[in-house]
Amino acid sequence: MDNTEASPLAKLSDSDFDFIVQFVSNRYGIDLSQKRRLIEARLGGEIKKLGLSSFKQYVDMLESDPASDKIDTFIDKITTNYSYFNREMDHYDFLMNTIIPAQARAQKASINIWSAGCATGEEPYNIAMAVDSALGYKRSAWNVSVTATDVSTRALSVARKGVYPEAELKGMPEEWKSNYMTALPDGNYKVNDNIRRSVFFSRFNLMDPFPHRMYDVIFCRNVMIYFKQQTSQAILKKFYSSLSEGGYLFIGHSETISGIMTEYKYVQPSIYQKVTKK
Ligand SMILES: C[S@@+](CC[C@H](N)C(=O)[O-])C[C@H]1O[C@@H](n2cnc3c(N)ncnc32)[C@H](O)[C@@H]1O
Repeated sequence: MDNTEASPLAKLSDSDFDFIVQFVSNRYGIDLSQKRRLIEARLGGEIKKLGLSSFKQYVDMLESDPASDKIDTFIDKITTNYSYFNREMDHYDFLMNTIIPAQARAQKASINIWSAGCATGEEPYNIAMAVDSALGYKRSAWNVSVTATDVSTRALSVARKGVYPEAELKGMPEEWKSNYMTALPDGNYKVNDNIRRSVFFSRFNLMDPFPHRMYDVIFCRNVMIYFKQQTSQAILKKFYSSLSEGGYLFIGHSETISGIMTEYKYVQPSIYQKVTKK
Protein backbone atom coordinates (compact mmCIF):
# COMPACT_ATOMS: atom_id res chain seq x y z
CA MET A 1 0.00 0.00 0.00
CA ASP A 2 1.20 3.48 -0.83
CA ASN A 3 1.28 5.62 2.29
CA THR A 4 2.87 8.66 0.73
CA GLU A 5 -0.47 10.35 -0.01
CA ALA A 6 -1.93 11.83 3.18
CA SER A 7 -5.66 11.32 3.75
CA PRO A 8 -7.65 14.54 3.28
CA LEU A 9 -9.23 13.88 6.70
CA ALA A 10 -5.98 13.44 8.56
CA LYS A 11 -5.48 17.14 9.10
CA LEU A 12 -7.79 19.83 10.29
CA SER A 13 -6.98 23.30 9.02
CA ASP A 14 -6.45 26.04 11.59
CA SER A 15 -9.49 27.97 10.38
CA ASP A 16 -11.81 24.92 10.54
CA PHE A 17 -10.43 24.07 13.96
CA ASP A 18 -11.07 27.63 15.17
CA PHE A 19 -14.59 27.54 13.75
CA ILE A 20 -15.44 24.23 15.45
CA VAL A 21 -13.99 25.41 18.79
CA GLN A 22 -16.01 28.65 18.62
CA PHE A 23 -19.21 26.96 17.41
CA VAL A 24 -19.10 24.34 20.20
CA SER A 25 -18.18 26.85 22.88
CA ASN A 26 -20.97 29.28 21.94
CA ARG A 27 -23.69 26.68 21.55
CA TYR A 28 -22.80 24.01 24.11
CA GLY A 29 -20.27 25.62 26.46
CA ILE A 30 -17.73 22.86 25.88
CA ASP A 31 -14.17 24.09 25.51
CA LEU A 32 -12.37 22.12 22.78
CA SER A 33 -9.51 24.58 22.35
CA GLN A 34 -6.99 22.00 23.60
CA LYS A 35 -8.73 19.06 21.89
CA ARG A 36 -7.54 19.18 18.32
CA ARG A 37 -6.81 15.46 18.22
CA LEU A 38 -10.20 14.64 19.73
CA ILE A 39 -11.94 16.65 17.00
CA GLU A 40 -9.93 14.93 14.28
CA ALA A 41 -10.44 11.46 15.74
CA ARG A 42 -14.15 11.75 16.56
CA LEU A 43 -15.32 13.71 13.53
CA GLY A 44 -13.09 12.21 10.83
CA GLY A 45 -15.23 9.07 10.54
CA GLU A 46 -18.46 11.06 10.41
CA ILE A 47 -17.14 13.17 7.54
CA LYS A 48 -16.28 10.01 5.64
CA LYS A 49 -19.73 8.53 6.34
CA LEU A 50 -21.44 11.64 4.98
CA GLY A 51 -19.35 11.41 1.81
CA LEU A 52 -17.68 14.74 2.47
CA SER A 53 -14.07 15.24 1.59
CA SER A 54 -12.91 17.69 4.20
CA PHE A 55 -13.57 19.25 7.60
CA LYS A 56 -14.29 22.45 5.70
CA GLN A 57 -17.31 20.88 3.97
CA TYR A 58 -18.52 19.46 7.28
CA VAL A 59 -18.16 22.81 9.01
CA ASP A 60 -20.03 24.52 6.13
CA MET A 61 -22.85 22.00 6.44
CA LEU A 62 -23.20 22.58 10.19
CA GLU A 63 -23.07 26.32 9.72
CA SER A 64 -25.64 26.41 6.91
CA ASP A 65 -28.19 24.26 8.74
CA PRO A 66 -27.66 24.46 12.51
CA ALA A 67 -31.11 22.90 13.10
CA SER A 68 -30.31 19.76 11.11
CA ASP A 69 -30.32 16.34 12.78
CA LYS A 70 -26.66 16.08 11.75
CA ILE A 71 -26.11 18.39 14.71
CA ASP A 72 -27.32 15.63 17.05
CA THR A 73 -24.66 13.30 15.74
CA PHE A 74 -22.12 16.08 15.98
CA ILE A 75 -23.02 16.65 19.67
CA ASP A 76 -22.91 12.93 20.38
CA LYS A 77 -19.40 12.86 18.93
CA ILE A 78 -18.01 15.86 20.78
CA THR A 79 -19.48 15.15 24.22
CA THR A 80 -17.96 12.72 26.69
CA ASN A 81 -20.80 10.72 28.22
CA TYR A 82 -18.74 8.62 30.60
CA SER A 83 -20.61 7.73 33.80
CA TYR A 84 -21.04 4.79 36.13
CA PHE A 85 -23.19 3.63 39.04
CA ASN A 86 -22.40 4.84 42.55
CA ARG A 87 -19.86 7.37 41.32
CA GLU A 88 -18.92 9.67 44.21
CA MET A 89 -21.10 7.69 46.61
CA ASP A 90 -20.72 10.19 49.46
CA HIS A 91 -23.14 12.48 47.58
CA TYR A 92 -25.84 9.81 47.77
CA ASP A 93 -25.01 9.31 51.47
CA PHE A 94 -25.45 13.05 52.03
CA LEU A 95 -28.76 12.96 50.21
CA MET A 96 -29.98 10.04 52.34
CA ASN A 97 -28.58 11.08 55.71
CA THR A 98 -28.83 14.88 55.63
CA ILE A 99 -31.18 16.17 52.94
CA ILE A 100 -34.07 13.68 53.21
CA PRO A 101 -34.20 13.90 57.04
CA ALA A 102 -34.17 17.72 56.79
CA GLN A 103 -37.09 17.65 54.33
CA ALA A 104 -38.93 15.29 56.66
CA ARG A 105 -38.29 17.54 59.68
CA ALA A 106 -39.69 20.46 57.69
CA GLN A 107 -42.75 18.25 56.99
CA LYS A 108 -42.32 18.61 53.23
CA ALA A 109 -42.89 14.99 52.11
CA SER A 110 -41.61 15.92 48.67
CA ILE A 111 -38.29 16.32 46.92
CA ASN A 112 -37.53 17.75 43.52
CA ILE A 113 -34.09 16.88 42.16
CA TRP A 114 -32.33 17.75 38.87
CA SER A 115 -29.56 15.63 37.42
CA ALA A 116 -28.09 18.10 34.91
CA GLY A 117 -25.75 16.36 32.47
CA CYS A 118 -27.11 12.90 33.35
CA ALA A 119 -25.28 11.13 30.49
CA THR A 120 -26.37 7.47 30.23
CA GLY A 121 -28.66 7.58 33.28
CA GLU A 122 -26.66 6.00 36.09
CA GLU A 123 -26.71 9.22 38.15
CA PRO A 124 -30.48 9.94 38.12
CA TYR A 125 -31.31 6.26 38.73
CA ASN A 126 -28.89 6.24 41.66
CA ILE A 127 -30.55 9.40 43.02
CA ALA A 128 -33.98 7.73 42.88
CA MET A 129 -32.53 4.62 44.55
CA ALA A 130 -30.94 6.68 47.33
CA VAL A 131 -34.21 8.53 48.00
CA ASP A 132 -36.22 5.31 47.97
CA SER A 133 -33.79 3.59 50.29
CA ALA A 134 -33.77 6.55 52.72
CA LEU A 135 -37.56 6.75 52.82
CA GLY A 136 -38.33 3.03 53.12
CA TYR A 137 -42.01 2.38 53.81
CA LYS A 138 -42.73 6.14 53.81
CA ARG A 139 -41.85 6.39 50.12
CA SER A 140 -45.44 6.02 48.92
CA ALA A 141 -46.51 9.08 50.91
CA TRP A 142 -43.81 11.24 49.28
CA ASN A 143 -43.73 13.07 46.01
CA VAL A 144 -40.33 12.28 44.48
CA SER A 145 -39.29 13.77 41.17
CA VAL A 146 -35.91 13.38 39.46
CA THR A 147 -35.54 15.44 36.30
CA ALA A 148 -32.65 14.10 34.21
CA THR A 149 -31.33 16.12 31.29
CA ASP A 150 -28.48 15.96 28.82
CA VAL A 151 -27.65 17.54 25.48
CA SER A 152 -26.68 14.20 23.90
CA THR A 153 -29.57 12.29 22.33
CA ARG A 154 -27.50 9.12 22.11
CA ALA A 155 -26.72 9.20 25.84
CA LEU A 156 -30.38 9.88 26.63
CA SER A 157 -31.58 6.94 24.58
CA VAL A 158 -29.27 4.61 26.57
CA ALA A 159 -30.54 6.26 29.77
CA ARG A 160 -34.21 5.82 28.88
CA LYS A 161 -33.73 2.08 28.24
CA GLY A 162 -32.31 1.64 31.75
CA VAL A 163 -30.46 -1.54 30.78
CA TYR A 164 -26.82 -2.04 31.80
CA PRO A 165 -24.25 -4.83 31.65
CA GLU A 166 -23.66 -6.61 34.96
CA ALA A 167 -20.07 -5.29 35.08
CA GLU A 168 -21.51 -1.78 35.46
CA LEU A 169 -23.15 -2.74 38.75
CA LYS A 170 -19.95 -3.62 40.54
CA GLY A 171 -19.94 -0.54 42.81
CA MET A 172 -23.60 -0.87 43.71
CA PRO A 173 -24.52 -1.97 47.26
CA GLU A 174 -25.99 -5.50 47.20
CA GLU A 175 -29.20 -4.22 48.75
CA TRP A 176 -29.74 -1.73 45.93
CA LYS A 177 -28.89 -4.34 43.32
CA SER A 178 -31.50 -6.73 44.69
CA ASN A 179 -34.14 -4.08 45.42
CA TYR A 180 -33.84 -1.93 42.31
CA MET A 181 -32.34 -4.00 39.46
CA THR A 182 -33.63 -7.10 37.67
CA ALA A 183 -31.42 -9.59 35.83
CA LEU A 184 -32.46 -10.14 32.22
CA PRO A 185 -32.06 -13.48 30.40
CA ASP A 186 -29.20 -12.01 28.30
CA GLY A 187 -27.14 -11.27 31.44
CA ASN A 188 -27.83 -7.53 31.48
CA TYR A 189 -29.66 -5.78 34.31
CA LYS A 190 -32.67 -3.51 34.03
CA VAL A 191 -33.64 -0.71 36.42
CA ASN A 192 -36.95 -1.61 38.11
CA ASP A 193 -40.11 0.29 37.25
CA ASN A 194 -40.55 1.72 40.74
CA ILE A 195 -37.28 3.61 40.23
CA ARG A 196 -37.88 4.45 36.56
CA ARG A 197 -41.24 6.01 37.42
CA SER A 198 -39.52 8.75 39.47
CA VAL A 199 -37.09 9.75 36.70
CA PHE A 200 -38.08 12.03 33.80
CA PHE A 201 -35.57 12.30 30.97
CA SER A 202 -35.44 15.16 28.53
CA ARG A 203 -32.99 16.84 26.24
CA PHE A 204 -31.74 20.14 27.53
CA ASN A 205 -28.76 22.33 26.72
CA LEU A 206 -27.41 24.07 29.80
CA MET A 207 -26.54 27.07 27.62
CA ASP A 208 -30.27 27.72 27.05
CA PRO A 209 -32.46 29.74 29.43
CA PHE A 210 -33.63 27.56 32.31
CA PRO A 211 -37.32 26.69 32.74
CA HIS A 212 -39.04 28.37 35.67
CA ARG A 213 -38.90 25.41 37.98
CA MET A 214 -37.42 25.19 41.44
CA TYR A 215 -35.32 22.28 42.73
CA ASP A 216 -34.39 21.16 46.23
CA VAL A 217 -31.21 19.56 44.92
CA ILE A 218 -29.19 19.91 41.72
CA PHE A 219 -26.54 17.43 40.66
CA CYS A 220 -24.21 18.79 37.98
CA ARG A 221 -21.22 16.54 38.34
CA ASN A 222 -18.35 16.21 35.90
CA VAL A 223 -20.03 18.47 33.36
CA MET A 224 -18.62 21.96 33.96
CA ILE A 225 -15.16 20.43 33.96
CA TYR A 226 -15.42 20.68 30.16
CA PHE A 227 -16.42 24.37 30.24
CA LYS A 228 -14.41 27.56 30.44
CA GLN A 229 -14.62 29.29 33.82
CA GLN A 230 -16.75 32.13 32.44
CA THR A 231 -19.32 29.65 31.08
CA SER A 232 -19.41 27.72 34.37
CA GLN A 233 -19.97 30.96 36.22
CA ALA A 234 -23.00 31.86 34.11
CA ILE A 235 -24.48 28.36 34.55
CA LEU A 236 -23.81 28.38 38.30
CA LYS A 237 -25.79 31.61 38.53
CA LYS A 238 -28.72 30.00 36.71
CA PHE A 239 -28.54 26.98 39.03
CA TYR A 240 -28.63 29.34 42.00
CA SER A 241 -31.85 30.93 40.74
CA SER A 242 -33.35 27.46 40.22
CA LEU A 243 -32.61 26.26 43.75
CA SER A 244 -35.13 26.60 46.57
CA GLU A 245 -33.93 28.35 49.69
CA GLY A 246 -31.68 25.89 51.55
CA GLY A 247 -31.31 23.77 48.38
CA TYR A 248 -28.08 21.94 47.56
CA LEU A 249 -25.76 21.83 44.56
CA PHE A 250 -23.47 18.85 44.01
CA ILE A 251 -20.55 19.12 41.62
CA GLY A 252 -17.87 16.53 40.76
CA HIS A 253 -15.10 15.84 43.27
CA SER A 254 -12.43 17.07 40.88
CA GLU A 255 -14.30 20.36 40.37
CA THR A 256 -14.45 23.48 42.50
CA ILE A 257 -16.49 26.65 42.39
CA SER A 258 -14.58 28.55 45.02
CA GLY A 259 -13.15 31.68 43.50
CA ILE A 260 -15.72 31.78 40.70
CA MET A 261 -18.96 31.87 42.66
CA THR A 262 -19.48 33.50 46.00
CA GLU A 263 -23.25 33.27 46.48
CA TYR A 264 -23.27 29.61 47.47
CA LYS A 265 -22.46 28.53 50.99
CA TYR A 266 -19.68 25.96 51.06
CA VAL A 267 -20.84 22.86 52.91
CA GLN A 268 -18.05 20.35 52.25
CA PRO A 269 -15.89 19.54 49.20
CA SER A 270 -18.15 19.44 46.10
CA ILE A 271 -21.34 20.27 48.07
CA TYR A 272 -22.78 23.81 48.17
CA GLN A 273 -25.99 25.29 49.50
CA LYS A 274 -28.20 28.23 48.67
CA VAL A 275 -28.55 30.27 51.81
CA THR A 276 -29.84 33.76 51.07
CA LYS A 277 -28.25 36.42 53.24
CA LYS A 278 -30.84 38.32 55.21
C1 LIG B 1 -18.87 13.01 31.88
S1 LIG B 1 -20.62 13.10 31.74
C2 LIG B 1 -21.09 13.19 33.45
C3 LIG B 1 -22.25 12.29 33.78
C4 LIG B 1 -22.68 12.26 35.25
N1 LIG B 1 -23.12 13.56 35.69
C5 LIG B 1 -21.59 11.72 36.13
O1 LIG B 1 -20.98 12.49 36.89
O2 LIG B 1 -21.30 10.52 36.05
C6 LIG B 1 -20.90 14.80 31.17
C7 LIG B 1 -22.23 14.97 30.47
O3 LIG B 1 -22.48 16.38 30.31
C8 LIG B 1 -23.19 16.55 29.10
N2 LIG B 1 -23.10 17.94 28.63
C9 LIG B 1 -22.02 18.59 28.15
N3 LIG B 1 -22.36 19.84 27.77
C10 LIG B 1 -23.67 19.98 28.03
C11 LIG B 1 -24.60 21.06 27.83
N4 LIG B 1 -24.24 22.21 27.30
N5 LIG B 1 -25.88 20.86 28.22
C12 LIG B 1 -26.28 19.68 28.75
N6 LIG B 1 -25.44 18.63 28.94
C13 LIG B 1 -24.15 18.78 28.59
C14 LIG B 1 -22.53 15.56 28.15
O4 LIG B 1 -23.36 15.25 27.05
C15 LIG B 1 -22.25 14.38 29.07
O5 LIG B 1 -23.24 13.39 28.97
